[in-house]
Amino acid sequence: MPKNTKKILVDEEEELVEISTIVKVVSRQVLDSRGNPTVETDIWLRKGATGRGTVPSGASTGVHESLELRDDKKTVYGGKSVLRAVANVNKQIGPKILGRSAKDQNDLDTLMLKLDGSRNKSNLGANAILSVSMAVARAAAASENQPLFRYLNKRKDYKLPIPMMNVINGGKHAGNNLAVQEFLIEPVGGKNYSESLRYGVEVYHALKSVLNEKYGQTSTNVGDEGGYSPPLDKTAEALDAIMNAISNAGYDESQIKLGLDAASSSFYDPKTMSYRIDGKTLTSAELGDYYDNLVNTYPILSLEDPFSEDSFEEFAKITARLGRKVKIIGDDLYVTNPERLAKGIEMKATNAILIKLNQIGTVSETLEAIRMAKTAKFAIAVSHRSGETEDTFIAHLATAVGSHFIKAGAPARGERTAKYNELLRISEELGSEASYAGSSFT
Ligand code: PGA
Ligand code: ZN
Repeated sequence: MPKNTKKILVDEEEELVEISTIVKVVSRQVLDSRGNPTVETDIWLRKGATGRGTVPSGASTGVHESLELRDDKKTVYGGKSVLRAVANVNKQIGPKILGRSAKDQNDLDTLMLKLDGSRNKSNLGANAILSVSMAVARAAAASENQPLFRYLNKRKDYKLPIPMMNVINGGKHAGNNLAVQEFLIEPVGGKNYSESLRYGVEVYHALKSVLNEKYGQTSTNVGDEGGYSPPLDKTAEALDAIMNAISNAGYDESQIKLGLDAASSSFYDPKTMSYRIDGKTLTSAELGDYYDNLVNTYPILSLEDPFSEDSFEEFAKITARLGRKVKIIGDDLYVTNPERLAKGIEMKATNAILIKLNQIGTVSETLEAIRMAKTAKFAIAVSHRSGETEDTFIAHLATAVGSHFIKAGAPARGERTAKYNELLRISEELGSEASYAGSSFT
């Protein structure tokens, strides 16, 4: 190689390293969609690229989730301020990652895990760590002038997810008596993402009329995730209202499927080992029959957290029973944790997983859980939290990993539509470059 060519190559390499070098890290406290404080971090790279990560927050939080660090100072934001987590980024994590390349996602995530030193990220806070991890990925993508989904997947096998829209809110997300936390519509029948989104939105609006007519106007006040929260008591009443809305909007069961997130840990009583639902107290076996009956009555495609968060055996039983027809999704069961997922795969506990970045707390571990789930041929649903932000990271993540579903709430409230709208932009950019996950369910 001629001498000056070599020099140019070396310069180029240095230039690339230079571009992605982290030069500034600033974290701050902002608000989530429930008006609670959350952590946001900005990262600057040497040649001006920037990245931001804003962390969401759950209400029906799994006990095995990584720790969300809050200040617990009752006089400030009701104890929910996150200034310690913010300080952990500004004073501890930031100085350690300065001068490092934003492209070393794995190394930077590992460095933060070591710095924290606990099993559940309780020293620095998973909210502190994740804000940096997300900002690193964003900044690295910006340094390549790429949208995040392209940076996260260089193989280019992009897939647009089916929107899983939570149109009736119950459980811990609403002030009604519905035990089941989320009633979702899954418009699989559109020919692409944007058509399916439209189907879902039309059903959402039709549902408003159905509920207004039957239960009065207060029934269409919305819960945390933008779904209506009618004063209903029974699961079947909510499902019937949705079925009416589907047909009023001009669709049928082949085009719009239903999903339930029971989030059953919230109606499980560990003392009596029973579940309180529809005004009844059911054993695990009775609850299994209850779900079987629902699945035979309604076009249910997914059932999330049907049993409480440590019931691997009960999950395995329901997956063996209904798994051919229904995606049994583990959310609180797995908490996006590769170790818990390994156990679930081994036990055939589910055939699907919910993915939430902040349950585990780093982008690398999230990608590892997704990789394992894909190898096990599990369906994947990338998910928001009930306390959300304007951040659209999950829209990019879902596209990059070829997630079957994205769960981002009802098509209402800005923090929810932010994700659905970003997917519209991504699908416009990708055109025929991307496939659509709906085609595998019709
Ligand atoms: P959360 O609810 O964000 O309140 O945990 C979402 C879910 O359970 O899927
Ligand atoms: Zn859930």
